[in-house]
Amino acid sequence: MHLLQGRTQRPSMKEIALHLLDLAENSVSAGSQTVQICVCEDQQANLLTASVVDDGPGMSPEMVQAVTDPFVTSRTTRKVGLGLPLLKGAAEACQGGLTIASAPGAGTRVEVFFQHSHVDRMPLGNLSSTFLGLAVAHPDVHWIFKYTARNTGAEETFEYDDQPIKETLEGLPITHPQVLACVRGIFEDGIGAAKAVLP
Ligand SMILES: Nc1ncnc2c1ncn2[C@@H]1O[C@H](COP(=O)(O)OP(=O)(O)OP(=O)(O)O)[C@@H](O)[C@H]1O
Ligand SMILES: [Mg+2]
Repeated sequence: MHLLQGRTQRPSMKEIALHLLDLAENSVSAGSQTVQICVCEDQQANLLTASVVDDGPGMSPEMVQAVTDPFVTSRTTRKVGLGLPLLKGAAEACQGGLTIASAPGAGTRVEVFFQHSHVDRMPLGNLSSTFLGLAVAHPDVHWIFKYTARNTGAEETFEYDDQPIKETLEGLPITHPQVLACVRGIFEDGIGAAKAVLP
């Protein structure tokens, strides 16, 4: 059986949020200091788009070309990398696609889009948990999360930049239970409020 046959069925990757987690982990593994994740649900254009942008070491054109091939990876625990090919395949199955803009020393931007209403589009998943998980797992990274919902005549954006929050905390770790509860509340309220413009 071809390695990628049935690829959208991999149980742990049935949500877009989990794919974004994987992309962000790629950025962190590469040594990025700032990582921005943007998600936009555009009901009007019938599109769901997401991007992960980092200031890491970037990739050569050959590497960019190769990383959507499932046999290319810089991980040492196993020989194939699956994150990018899986997501690309899932997007293309929904009249969407995946693009990578990257250059050595210039960071990496991965953009993915899906037809929002496509029957095979996986659900977005829990963005709050994904954002929180990343912020907690990698507290030294500067995280910027953005969620936009757009409908005819209405647009709402939630944006979270953890730099000013960390400054306000004055040394109290983001992993402190009370801080965590507060940040979870910020995500859930902010994303929930933006989603209200969708049908
Ligand atoms: N943001 C990035 N910056 C630099 N290199 C990257 C970035 N994203 C991906 N890469 C390179 O592309 C390779 C393939 O990534 P991909 O997510 O497909 O697989 P993986 O992370 O190696 O393994 P898996 O995601 O299956 O656990 C990575 O091993 C890494 O070398
Ligand atoms: Mg990966």
